[in-house]
Order: sequence, then C-alpha cells, then structure tokens
Amino acid sequence: MTEKEIHIAFAEYRSIEELNAEDRELAHAAIDAMRGSYAPYSHFNVGAAVRLSNGQIVQGANQENAAFPSGLCAERTAMFAASAKYPDKDMQSIALAGGVYGQLTEEPATPCGACRQVMAQYQTKSGKPMSVIMIGAGRIWKFERVDDILPLIFDSI
Ligand code: THU
Repeated sequence: MTEKEIHIAFAEYRSIEELNAEDRELAHAAIDAMRGSYAPYSHFNVGAAVRLSNGQIVQGANQENAAFPSGLCAERTAMFAASAKYPDKDMQSIALAGGVYGQLTEEPATPCGACRQVMAQYQTKSGKPMSVIMIGAGRIWKFERVDDILPLIFDSI
C-alpha cells in the first residue's frame, strides 16, 4: 500500500480590485448577474459569468421551480447559454457570486458538484485550463483549472 496525496493550489485575494483586469471584469459581471436570479424558495441569489475565447462574457443566474429538481444553478445556466449561443468558442474562465436576498456572502460562493462536473466537460472540450473564480465580500478565491476543485474528474466514456 502506498499513501498518496492530492495537492491543490489556489490564490486568495482580499478584494476584486486585486484581480487582473480581465478577472475583475468577470467578477463584476458575476455580481451583476445576481440580479437575474429567480429564487423564491431559497432566497439565495447566485450569479455567474463565463469568459469565452472571443472575449465575450455570458451571464447566468440560478432559476428555481416549484418542482425543485427542475431548477438550475447559476453556473450551469451561464455555461449552457454560452455553449448554446457560441458553440465554437472555448470557455476560459467562470466566476460566481451569491448571497441571501442579494446580499453578497462574506465567504466565497462555491459551486456544487454537478456544476463542477459540467465545468470539467467544457474544459475537456476546449483542451485548455478553465479557471474558476469564487467571489465573496471578504475574500476571493481563484483556481487555475477545474481539476483543482474536482480531483479525479470523470471524463472517460
Ligand atoms: N446555487 C447555485 O446557483 N449555484 C451554486 O453553486 C450553489 C447553489 C443555487 C441553487 C438554488 O437555487 C440555490 O442556490 C440554493 O441552493
């Protein structure tokens, strides 16, 4: 038996202003996207923004439904919209932000497992790393590739 470890590196920023210009723009777009959230059940409003290889930013927000499983997270709403509208463009990065009744959380919003799996697939499709930026009012985390938030990714069929 051999014990193994998985090492994950990520960057922590104190504010959006510390991000580089592209990431700053994407972070603001994710926060802005929170306005599109429809969350009458959880009241947790999430916004996401995807940057494509042509520079385009596509926004998404969580959409809830009385039949709970019919709703969708902000990240997948954004990624599916991006893929549907710009099928030939790579997704370079995704940012997300969330908060109860639109009040940005102090800690960074972290994506659910299903959204991470969808991110992984678009990263594999593009063949290039897709960075993930999680935004909170108190700190921001940036992961350079989806592998860092979904180790041992399933992508083999
Ligand atoms: N939600 C997202 O949109 N993204 C996440 O990463 C986590 C959760 C949404 C789903 C649901 O509408 C609400 O937040 C509460 O879970």
